[in-house]
Amino acid sequence: MIPHQTIESIFDASRIEEVVGDFVALKRRGSNLVGLCPFHNERTPSFHVSPTKGIYKCFGCGKAGNSVNFVMEHEKFTYPEALRYLAKKYHIDIQEEEESLEQVQEKTAREGLSAASEFAGKYFAEQLFQSDEGKSIGLSYFHERGFSDDTIRKFQLGYSQEEWDNFTKAALKNGYSLEMLEKTGLTIVKDGKQYDRFRGRVMFPIHSQAGKVIGFGGRIMSADKTKPKYVNSPESEIYNKSKVLYGIAFAKNAIAANDRCFLVEGYTDVISMHQAGIQNVVSSSGTSLTTDQIRLIKRYTSNITILYDGDPAGIKASFRGIDMILEQGMNVKVVLFPDGEDPDSFARTRRSIEVTEFIEHNSKDFIHFKIDLLLKETGSDPLKRVAVLKDFIESISLIPDRLTRLAYVKESAHQMQMDERAVLSELNKILRKKFTQRTGSSEEEAEIIEPPVEIEQAEQEDSFDKYSTEWQEKEIIRQLLLFGEEPIKIEFNNEETGKAEKLETKVAAFIIGDIKHDGITFSNAVYQKILEAGSKTLDETQDLDYKKLTNHPDAELTQAVIDLIATKYTFSPNWEKRKIRLAQEHEILDEHIPHCLLSFKAKRVRQVMREIEEKIKSAATVEEQIEWMAHYRKVQKAANLIDSGKLGRTIV
Ligand code: UTP
Ligand code: MN
Repeated sequence: MIPHQTIESIFDASRIEEVVGDFVALKRRGSNLVGLCPFHNERTPSFHVSPTKGIYKCFGCGKAGNSVNFVMEHEKFTYPEALRYLAKKYHIDIQEEEESLEQVQEKTAREGLSAASEFAGKYFAEQLFQSDEGKSIGLSYFHERGFSDDTIRKFQLGYSQEEWDNFTKAALKNGYSLEMLEKTGLTIVKDGKQYDRFRGRVMFPIHSQAGKVIGFGGRIMSADKTKPKYVNSPESEIYNKSKVLYGIAFAKNAIAANDRCFLVEGYTDVISMHQAGIQNVVSSSGTSLTTDQIRLIKRYTSNITILYDGDPAGIKASFRGIDMILEQGMNVKVVLFPDGEDPDSFARTRRSIEVTEFIEHNSKDFIHFKIDLLLKETGSDPLKRVAVLKDFIESISLIPDRLTRLAYVKESAHQMQMDERAVLSELNKILRKKFTQRTGSSEEEAEIIEPPVEIEQAEQEDSFDKYSTEWQEKEIIRQLLLFGEEPIKIEFNNEETGKAEKLETKVAAFIIGDIKHDGITFSNAVYQKILEAGSKTLDETQDLDYKKLTNHPDAELTQAVIDLIATKYTFSPNWEKRKIRLAQEHEILDEHIPHCLLSFKAKRVRQVMREIEEKIKSAATVEEQIEWMAHYRKVQKAANLIDSGKLGRTIV
């Protein structure tokens, strides 16, 4: 055992940048350090280390944690091994302590509670199968519900007699102390009298993950509506309701094997499903799901399917819990059972193949399911629809993975007949707000970590004017201003040799050179001015520092420059489409800059073609017409070349 204080000093001493730095080459970037992620293959660094926060996070694969997590993950150390490793690195002595008397007592207390609970489990099971009352009331009830004896034994179901203190007496006789029994909640002591908590109920033992009895749920047998249907054990040193799931001990292997966990509402749902041969099922026992319970499932799978009976109020009440599942980066599906059926009744009355098939065919993605349900309620009321939208975006914002979020935005915007971009910008807003709240960082930092992602911005432009190059021009200038001095490696076709070559230069030199070479001008006058001013600066100083342009005498130019560099980290649309990882912008310059130029030229060349088409139509003579058509074919050829994705006649 490593003493608590030592653990604390190990955490205090560990500098994340040093710990990670032993394995990963890190480069400083702003207040962070970046490097190539050691946990997945990548060529451009997306692995970030924050010394001030003491954490690392890879924006490529999502792995994140502190110093201890890092060595655990990287070196496959256990927690104590990781601590020892770090202690050694920082010359911290670990004096492994003997367990104190207190700890020993605590442990024996827990063991005592556990033993008493195990005894109770056996006792109630015995009552079920052997006592007259147990057999005639409890066992026949279970049989009526369709539970087989095997199932009953497997789940250790039992019966508590309709007597004041039968169990307590038996337990005391077997050497369990009253104190222990009271602590488990099995015995209630009041006014010097002691009696059983569970009386006249069928018993469902709750097992720990390791399969030990830690608590009970007892279902009433009488039709007495004044009494609760279920009585449950109170929390104790061994039973923490929020950390356990009913059925986990019987389900865990099947959950891992199927890579999916079914989540149901109650004890009987779990049991009936098991009996139908579906074993990867657990229940949160009627309460809303907790983060600890979700993490428990996550040890075995990241896929959860929630099985609902058809009660809309219950479903809506569960949404909050599901948001928590999304937050844990898990995939959530839901299955709605037919009216009046729950997993228990459904599984009981059908063959297991039918149950499996029903679940398979009726699994819906949670987010779509949620929107569907909410939209049905709101009808066409626009105000209510906005509320639904907000609600849904809130759910999406919880999903840790960027690409998954994007996929949801695209699909769901469609489902809601909303504009994708409106949904996305709303989402971006929420993400940034959350980030600043969570980390206390500035808006600007938030933009770096949660860069707004803009999909199909170009297509949006399209809808205004199919031939406009405005957006492309803006993006090229923005790149020029922000990354002008950054090195860039470009692959291009050498026209003389016809071979692919690599060119290493700077972003500014490349952009300006390429556009000049092609003799193209921008349609936007201000952007053209910036381009020319940039070209002049480049000639004079061999570099392009946009700060100089923010002091330019031309006020219009200056304003445009400031506007452009203020909207720092946005992403160009098509990267997402091409499934290229959304790294920070300057990490993808090699790909992004040529892409910008190409898409600009592709549009520009079509503008020219359109102009020529007009000329052909309005030509006064046939000769003139033929001349224009020849010209047209030349331009068309250039267009094809551009469309093929090659930057041809580039500067050398
Ligand atoms: P249900 O009322 O659906 O119970 O509550 P059930 O297990 O399906 O029981 P049957 O079919 O009527 O026999 C779902 C779960 O909520 C918890 C229990 O864990 C139950 O399994 N619950 C319900 C309680 O804890 N107390 C209650 O009074 C009712
Ligand atoms: Mn039920």
